[in-house]
Amino acid sequence: MRPKSFDIFSQSCKAIPGGVNSPARSFRGVDITPPLIVESGKGDSIFDVDGNTYIDYCCSWGALILGHAHEAVVEAAQKQIEKGSTFGIATAIEQKMAEKVTSLMPNIEKVRFVSSGTEATMTAIRLARGYTGKSKIIKLAGHYHGHSDAFLIQAGSGVTNINPTSTSKGVTSSVIADTICLPFNDSLTLRSFFTTDPRREDVAAVILEPITGNMGVVLPEESFLELLQNLTKQVGALLIFDEVITGFRVGLQGAQGLYRITPDLTCLGKVVGGGFPAAAVGGKQKIMDCLAPLGEVYQAGTLSGNPVAMQAGFTTLSLIEKPHFYKELQEKANRLTKPILDFIQKQNLNIALQQCGSMFSIFFGVKKVKSKEDLKSLDRNKFNQFFRYLFERGIYIPPSAEEAWFISSAHTNEHLDTTSHCILEFLNTKYE
Ligand SMILES: Cc1ncc(COP(=O)(O)O)c(C=O)c1O
Repeated sequence: MRPKSFDIFSQSCKAIPGGVNSPARSFRGVDITPPLIVESGKGDSIFDVDGNTYIDYCCSWGALILGHAHEAVVEAAQKQIEKGSTFGIATAIEQKMAEKVTSLMPNIEKVRFVSSGTEATMTAIRLARGYTGKSKIIKLAGHYHGHSDAFLIQAGSGVTNINPTSTSKGVTSSVIADTICLPFNDSLTLRSFFTTDPRREDVAAVILEPITGNMGVVLPEESFLELLQNLTKQVGALLIFDEVITGFRVGLQGAQGLYRITPDLTCLGKVVGGGFPAAAVGGKQKIMDCLAPLGEVYQAGTLSGNPVAMQAGFTTLSLIEKPHFYKELQEKANRLTKPILDFIQKQNLNIALQQCGSMFSIFFGVKKVKSKEDLKSLDRNKFNQFFRYLFERGIYIPPSAEEAWFISSAHTNEHLDTTSHCILEFLNTKYE
């Protein structure tokens, strides 16, 4: 059914490692060749090069909160492109965008824009090290913070497919020694580390996804986040919230707003760029002012704060800050998930559907996921069968058992109902 996709992918494999520019796009996890080769997108749907249509629940891994090719975003980007797409010189839209982000997020007093989430988290830990003068960072098992060396240890997302430790080759032993991994939602281990481990005084920062997306949607226990906040304060380490997914996704103030936590630094990405390459790191002024040119922590970028991305991001933020936006988005998500949740409960199925607002995951083979440990008993074969079932019916979900699905404001009730119906059909006929 997808001959053109097959041809393009075969040719791509000759010039691009694995035929893709990011491993999660390869569909290797779900054992389907060729992967999707997309031609265009509009609203809640994407169209492949063979003319097939799919309702999209990946939404560029959460970036497209307004759906594909939203008119206002397209117009803002086009206008800027006509005036010039990059200068490597400061522009007024960067100031407008910084003002918008700092006004929406109370814990961000100053912000620096970069081009990717990877750059944002990489900058955040360099800043934390520069500010505290300490060397070690703590990350949590299964959390993903992009592909810089310090984070490719027990990481989530595509890294889980490379080997059992989810640790990339090419990361040196000294980097590994400076990254300490602790389990998510495990207050006992956390407390024990911060009271007895001799390395606790060397910790510059703890970084985490406050609500994970990269091992599927896993909610934090409120007490765990509070404990983290208190313990980091006690030892003089910074608390970094990686809200690349959750920022402007679970609410205007991200996960920190939902859980009333005040991280020292916050990383943003995805939604903040309105579908263009933009991300940000922000936080308390006294920490942010350690960045060059004011301070001695270096960070730079030819395309940082790119005006096209800033216009798209600014337009997106202006639309999502309108009253009722998140309420309506949540209602859309619930329209899809509620019938499935009811069915799982009624039939007492060994499936977990975990959700926060417009992001959720369906885990097969488990009743609840609290940490990476719980993912050991995931039924990946069932997920692959599920993925294929939906894909063949024109529904595209992230091609991995451990990722989040996303709803955009462009998802129509009709498409949400079709999807929910299809999932129930699968659970009724293919799930024992
Ligand atoms: C929580 C989180 N942090 C960081 C990143 C890295 O962002 P990017 O892919 O833009 O480099 C991602 C990417 O998915 C992410 O989900």
